[in-house]
Amino acid sequence: MKNIKLAMPSLKDARMRKNKNIPTIRYTVETQYQSIGKGKTYAIFTYGCQGNEADSEVMAGILEQIGYTKSTDKMNADVVILNTCAIRENAEQRIWGVLGQLKGKKRENPDMIIGISGCMPQEENATNKILESYDFIDIVFGTHNKQNLPKLIYEAYMTKSKVVEVISSEGDILEDAPKIRESHHKAWVNIMYGCDEFCTYCIVPYTRGRERSRSKEDIIEEVKELVSLGYSEVTLLGQNVNAYGKDLGLEYTFGDLLYDLDKTGIKRIRFTTSHPRDLDEKTMQAMHDCDSVMPHLHLPVQSGDNEILKRMNRKYTYEEYISKITRLKELVPDLALTTDIIVGFPNETAEQFQNTLKLVQEAKFEGAFTFIYSRREGTPAATMPDSVLEQEKHERLNILNKYINAGYLSGHQRFLNQIVEVLVDGPSKSGDGMMCGYTPHLKLTHFKCNDLSLIGKMVKVKITDAKTWFMIGELCE
Ligand code: SAH
Ligand code: SF4
Ligand code: F3S
Repeated sequence: MKNIKLAMPSLKDARMRKNKNIPTIRYTVETQYQSIGKGKTYAIFTYGCQGNEADSEVMAGILEQIGYTKSTDKMNADVVILNTCAIRENAEQRIWGVLGQLKGKKRENPDMIIGISGCMPQEENATNKILESYDFIDIVFGTHNKQNLPKLIYEAYMTKSKVVEVISSEGDILEDAPKIRESHHKAWVNIMYGCDEFCTYCIVPYTRGRERSRSKEDIIEEVKELVSLGYSEVTLLGQNVNAYGKDLGLEYTFGDLLYDLDKTGIKRIRFTTSHPRDLDEKTMQAMHDCDSVMPHLHLPVQSGDNEILKRMNRKYTYEEYISKITRLKELVPDLALTTDIIVGFPNETAEQFQNTLKLVQEAKFEGAFTFIYSRREGTPAATMPDSVLEQEKHERLNILNKYINAGYLSGHQRFLNQIVEVLVDGPSKSGDGMMCGYTPHLKLTHFKCNDLSLIGKMVKVKITDAKTWFMIGELCE
């Protein structure tokens, strides 16, 4: 297949942050693309973080607006898009695997359009590999130009070529794009895009560009609209939500936004992700003052060792982290705290790992995503010498997970015999007459019930059993 390279990625350019004034653009679709999907189906496979899930909802909205309908048979849709993640090597391996399966499908149906988007194409290694070895992929685009999807599909159809458009400087802030949300009671709401932290292990600042905040008016408007549509919960999204507004140069911060959103009438507000350095007093006060702001905080610590934290460029210490959470627990005494931790950062010693375990015990996390460090080409940590054996890293992860799992369990046990409010998501996966949902503290709760009309409603559940991964309760009449 011929290649049409409209734009190619460059991690070096991505680091530069050249685009100083980032405009907000209002989405419109050009007339020539308006019905290119008529009579055809689409499917989107989403990997990675909530940011990608939110992007996929926009892509679905764009595709449906130009006539496509959602396929019930995802592997055989007319347009299949893989919205990818580059955070760790194993995330990428999975995606190469799915692409392998799609290759066979394309042979059966040569008219199928296969697209790859998201964070992987932003890496030049990945895009070059696609160009060299994945001839059956038709469109390649990144995180900054999903609004061009109609154009890219059209070009690929018309030219029968592989169309590549990966932009390495920051995208505009896209407003008014259509969205097809996955849920009718919980919604993602982007408040900002990109990341300026440059933690030395992390690829995100390169794949997502510089920090850029949506205007507070657009955010508040979106939440008000969600309330009017009957939504009960929003999760505010950003790689570092506590940096909200800094790029706009206003006094208005994330804490102010929480106070304003509390007034919209939305029942539950969650947000992710917070950065320990930027989590400020106003945000903590808002968590205390606003009934709609849920008593759960995900605050990635990454490591409990000060030297490692420094080499990670996290810009806080063990002591500062503990002092932030101590303050927050004064304001929100029943807070549920969760985190992210990386083990096996280059040359992490056994003693440094012990410091992480010490912090885990002191912080009393009620959950964590734990990872083995994964080398990401182009990041500063990729060039750091590392003599820790792979097996040692796995052992550290196993030990850490034992502590973390104990935290999950005690986080559930503290609700035994209490009545909690659950926002009902639907039938439990186990399928034995149970339904499930989440409590304010983000505890997954199952209860006996088969009344599907309760989906999206708040119910009271009395907790009768606490397991590591969930709680079980009885519906209160
Ligand atoms: N902006 C968020 C989320 C970043 S990605 C934050 O700062 O927390 C989610 C998690 O993936 C990170 O918190 C980190 O724990 C992990 N992660 C990121 N890069 C990684 C890498 N190269 N290897 C292993 N884990 C990584
Ligand atoms: Fe990555 Fe750090 Fe930004 Fe999170 S804050 S996305 S870990 S660079
Ligand atoms: Fe992955 Fe990109 Fe999100 S690398 S975690 S999809 S920002």
